[in-house]
Amino acid sequence: MSMLKSTILAGLAALSLGAGAALAAEGGHVTDYRFSFEGPFGRFDQSQLQRGLQVYTEVCAACHGLKFVPFRELAEHGGPAMAENQMRAFAAMHEVTDADTGESRPATPSDHFPPSGLETAPDLSLMAKARAGFTGPHGLLVNQLLRGIGGPEYIATLLHGYTGEEKEEAGAVLYENHTFPGGWISMPPPLSDDMVTYADGTQATVEQMSQDVAAFLMWAAEPKMMARKSAGLTAVLFLLLLTVLLWFTNKKLWAPHKGKHV
Ligand code: HEC
Repeated sequence: MSMLKSTILAGLAALSLGAGAALAAEGGHVTDYRFSFEGPFGRFDQSQLQRGLQVYTEVCAACHGLKFVPFRELAEHGGPAMAENQMRAFAAMHEVTDADTGESRPATPSDHFPPSGLETAPDLSLMAKARAGFTGPHGLLVNQLLRGIGGPEYIATLLHGYTGEEKEEAGAVLYENHTFPGGWISMPPPLSDDMVTYADGTQATVEQMSQDVAAFLMWAAEPKMMARKSAGLTAVLFLLLLTVLLWFTNKKLWAPHKGKHV
């Protein structure tokens, strides 16, 4: 089994050779980070998701929303896997308007994260899938299977892609960012070193926080990614097995007629 696994992997890797260079998409510079969830056997890193949730909550949530993500997902296996009571307490820290009574109450696990508080800040629920860091002919098929389309890489690079330059345009301040298409973004640089204090002792550099929150947003956009991957892999293995069986059947059927050239 493990030989079969490595054979398939070697095959897939061979197919995607030469793809590594195609990172500079039209928009801007995107760094090809190695995330734990990449590749057919990739898994979300639970500690990274918890750190990412912390960055999201303490920094990004001031402006952005995650309105498609229910709080209960935080306790799911394969995600941040918060303890049930911790997740309930986390939900209860948020106020929601009850759909029936119209009154404000603490959120319960089936409620969703709040929507964006700042009108100009987009909701981040699906952002990791909406943005492609790697585009063009090399961003396709096998390459995508192995490395993804680069959404989390785009987010991570964007967050520390600021040059420090700013300008005013039509009364709004724009910040120069080499990752954002067009080069100027209206989001002020959200992160600075040691802005959060990680419980697991990880040093909170801007780059570390950027990758953690990007991984968290990938999970938010596709919490069932791991299940999808293993289902896909099972299908591939099944097809391989079927191919081998058919090949033998075929050989056996035709064996009596082989080598009888007249
Ligand atoms: C002070 C408010 C504010 C904070 C805090 C903030 N953002 Fe933003 N963000 C914005 C605004 C405004 C935009 C829209 C920018 C534009 O389109 O020019 C934006 C855009 C984005 C985008 C979309 C970029 C694109 O390609 O369209 C991403 C991704 C993003 N923010 C992630 C984050 C993350 C992750 C954090 C937390 C680390 C964060 N933001 C913190 C205001 C904020």
